[in-house]
Amino acid sequence: MAISHSPLPIVPSLWQSCTDGGGELFGDVAVPPSEESLIKIVKTLNGLPSLPDVVYRVMELVHDPDSTVPQIVETLLMDQAMTAKILRVANSAYYGFVREISTVTQAVAVLGKNDIADHVISSALCGFLNTQGPGLFDRRALWEYSLACAQCTRILLRLSSQPNERAYICALLHDIGQLVIDEVFPQEHDRVLSLAQEKGWPIECAERKVLGVDHAFVGGMVALHWNFPPVLVDAIGNHHATTDHLQAGSTELQLRCLLDLSDRIVRAAGIGMNHDHTTPEIPEEMWFPLGLNATHREKVTNALSVAMGKLSGLILT
Ligand SMILES: [Fe+2]
Repeated sequence: MAISHSPLPIVPSLWQSCTDGGGELFGDVAVPPSEESLIKIVKTLNGLPSLPDVVYRVMELVHDPDSTVPQIVETLLMDQAMTAKILRVANSAYYGFVREISTVTQAVAVLGKNDIADHVISSALCGFLNTQGPGLFDRRALWEYSLACAQCTRILLRLSSQPNERAYICALLHDIGQLVIDEVFPQEHDRVLSLAQEKGWPIECAERKVLGVDHAFVGGMVALHWNFPPVLVDAIGNHHATTDHLQAGSTELQLRCLLDLSDRIVRAAGIGMNHDHTTPEIPEEMWFPLGLNATHREKVTNALSVAMGKLSGLILT
């Protein structure tokens, strides 16, 4: 796909997601995106509201080993709406604390830095994702699916005792490109959904066929637009591309394996997404990079169901 002459701020590595795979399904007839389409996407990205400052600041503090709890509390207190949301989450069935959490200091102390950051980003994104568009695409189902993936990565990491602070946000955002496509190309998106259903294709293949780009590429552009770190841009932008080029044991490979496994577990459990008509297989070897195996599947699925039950009514509404 020749893009070297493009005046648009496209990161070449993101094109991997669009040029990988799909060829076996429809030969070489995928439609390359027109410059006009790309300009429309970039204009929409420019029109996306920025994430609240508190999100960036909390993310920075959480990933800074020298940051302190009072710094995080001070940052949260600058955003009244976020403060209220964090207290609501801390007092919810999700955590099930017996004692009431009445201050942000208590909330940060009992939830921990990483959980606070995850809830800050979930609350901020809820407004973007938890809406309904005019077409066939069910945006609420995408939001529910995304939250379930984020929860699933958390459960998998807990079981495998491998930390990865980027996993939750990456899982929550990995399919955000579908929302942008729905916003920019509503009619074409309906065609994508019909084609995927008719042919039994994965959604990203139908997108490449109709639009010349897939939601992974567009999601990578959103991550760039929001100034997310390169590791997140890569993981979101290439989440449907092959992992052959990634180094064994690298953070990039761990994130991609985690995302792929979470996506399959959530879809197999039938949570949220109803636009992908393929039935996901979960090969045994997908569990190995996490030090787990297929016998963990039931435990993960049960824990996911419990977590989603506790979250419903909290950030699903
Ligand atoms: Fe995807």
